[in-house]
Amino acid sequence: MIPTIEWSGQIVRMIDQRKLPAKVDWFICRGYRDVISGIKDMVIRGAPAIGVAAAMGLALGARSIRTASYGVFKDRFRRMADEMLIARPTAVNLRWAIDRMTGIVDSMEGLPVDDIKSAIRKESEAVLAEDIEINRKMGKNGLTLIPKGATILTHCNAGSLATGGYGTALGVIRAAHENGKKIKVIADETRPWLQGLRLTAFELMQDGIDVSVIADNAAGSLMRQKRIELVITGADRIAANGDVANKIGTYQVAVLAKENKIPFYVAAPISTIDPATKNGDMIPVEERAPEEICRIGGKMMGPSGVSAINPVFDITPARYVSAIITEQGVIRPPFQKGIKKVLAGSTLP
Ligand code: MRU
Repeated sequence: MIPTIEWSGQIVRMIDQRKLPAKVDWFICRGYRDVISGIKDMVIRGAPAIGVAAAMGLALGARSIRTASYGVFKDRFRRMADEMLIARPTAVNLRWAIDRMTGIVDSMEGLPVDDIKSAIRKESEAVLAEDIEINRKMGKNGLTLIPKGATILTHCNAGSLATGGYGTALGVIRAAHENGKKIKVIADETRPWLQGLRLTAFELMQDGIDVSVIADNAAGSLMRQKRIELVITGADRIAANGDVANKIGTYQVAVLAKENKIPFYVAAPISTIDPATKNGDMIPVEERAPEEICRIGGKMMGPSGVSAINPVFDITPARYVSAIITEQGVIRPPFQKGIKKVLAGSTLP
């Protein structure tokens, strides 16, 4: 699998996901504002990948600050971090990564600015490496939930391209495949950006995993016909009570799963859990331009002047979630207790 994002000498490059699968093109970032544009414009997307990009972007930003004064450096770095923070509102991994980078600056108070810049760069490399490691752990932890030969529905892209590598929901699917479970995947196409059709199908086919794409509105019918045994998605933010923000359409999939007595699992790293957000109603849901709904492949499909509403995430209440797969184990309902435990560093079965 091609890397989602990487350092190449002094620049950061990310695969331009808007062009996949037709073209594998690198989007070059020389400064932190290039990274902000990359996040805003969907060059890179997916909660953990956005976090990794923010960490690397701030390392680029730190390098460009010309001062020997710690105070001036900290002040300018903080302003860059504030700019980065508003690139996209829903995925909490963005804030998590930014806090981690500002934490480095705070902890090195009074030390030479050049040393701080090097430490920030190193930290950004660690964020990327750890993310891949975490996804592999999540994959292993999720294995027990996947029966042999299962057909699994997934929504959006929670794969290698949405993370530093390997994926969250697709990480569990990859682990099951590597374990010889002979699973099959059904990918919702995921309108309007088609992450399922363009990215999930692309990734899984590259790995030789059996995948079929469906129109988003076909999932319920396939569940009723018993052609889907379980659902796994990623998450953009998990509230302290287990409510889950994820790609628009996840909520209806979860409700349909419960109606059809199919387990609905969420795979996400601890960095996606936001203890400061009590419940899903408090999660900011991004709304993007209406044109994203009306145009397909750049071509206007609706009547000229038609209005459209484009919320890009939704909230799935915790009661629809069967379990949350993390790098520290599987959290089962009631989630509040398990979430507290993993945040305190405990390992779960
Ligand atoms: O708008 P996107 O493509 O950034 O939305 C991505 C998702 O909703 C993913 O499911 C989520 O970030 C989990 S990715 C491991």
